[in-house]
Amino acid sequence: MSEAVFDEQAVVQTVQQGLQALLDAQSTDELHALRTQYAGAQSELTRASKMIGSLPNDQKKTVGKIVGQLRADFGRAYALREQELIHLEEQQKLESETVDVTLPVNNHLGARHPLTVLMEEIQDFFISRGWQVSDGPEVETEWYNFDALNFGPDHPARQMQDTFYVKGDKSRDAAGFVGSNMVMRTQTSSDQVRALITTGVPLYIVCTGRVFRTDELDATHTPVFHQCEALAVDKHLTMADLKGTLDALAVAMFGPEAKTRLRPSYFPFTEPSAEMDLWFPDKKGGAGWVEWGGCGMVHPNVLRSAGIDPDEYTGFAFGVGVERTLLFRHDINDMHDLVEGDIRFSKQFTMGR
Ligand code: DAH
Repeated sequence: MSEAVFDEQAVVQTVQQGLQALLDAQSTDELHALRTQYAGAQSELTRASKMIGSLPNDQKKTVGKIVGQLRADFGRAYALREQELIHLEEQQKLESETVDVTLPVNNHLGARHPLTVLMEEIQDFFISRGWQVSDGPEVETEWYNFDALNFGPDHPARQMQDTFYVKGDKSRDAAGFVGSNMVMRTQTSSDQVRALITTGVPLYIVCTGRVFRTDELDATHTPVFHQCEALAVDKHLTMADLKGTLDALAVAMFGPEAKTRLRPSYFPFTEPSAEMDLWFPDKKGGAGWVEWGGCGMVHPNVLRSAGIDPDEYTGFAFGVGVERTLLFRHDINDMHDLVEGDIRFSKQFTMGR
């Protein structure tokens, strides 16, 4: 076996080359490759290390020292450069991921639904007159939705074909009544007695929101729609106050020429009751009477449900359909447009709002 020869100059030269290469490396990937090349299993340095065992004894110590020193130098230089490059790469990543928030965007912004905007407009009308906005629950007790409003137990509106009944715990309802059924409220009038009980009199409230009936969706019906309920209870209120409020709302919604008229009708919770028609000049130059809602003087039994003395207080109430109001105002013919949620539809009404 020929004696092993340690070529110090060659090993030192190679390692020096490696050290220079480390300094020149521009990425951690490149750095890893250099480690394999100059200190890996096939490298000059490793070959020199392995060779030490077979060197003559008198050389083992010196060569061991030299090789150890070279490996340590390489390791230190590697660690230093690695840190620099990691930092550099982080820096580059941050820069490349920077978002310039001042750049113009081409995103399509959403639009609020015209019904939502209209309900706020209606609320604003009432707020400007000093009324309060009230908001009852959509899952309501049958008591608030019907009984408290003087609907008799056999009133047809209670029947299954109109009302969504809700299965659930009937043990105690919001008013503390045990065993009342829950329904999806069929009218925002359900908030009348609730507000009278919780807020008391004098009371001027408007309640806008969703109501539910078991109707099929077609061009003129939808099972979920919106109503606006207004209720005023005070001393000395008369039908003139009702009519004045209705006309003012009509003007606010349909322009200065708009007006309302009343036709005798029946609702369990008002006496006298009336259908309310609206007249307004439409955009095409036409005009005519359309049915807009129901109204009347609050029935004494409703006041009694809330513990209010009907000899001392009187009130008026009315309810209008929010969908109808929107359809009239914009001459929309199909309810589908209102429920489908197509952003292109909403955008026509809510530009800039
Ligand atoms: N709640 C009635 C409905 O859904 C509308 C209505 C009629 C409301 C007369 C009233 C009213 O406040 O006085 O058909």
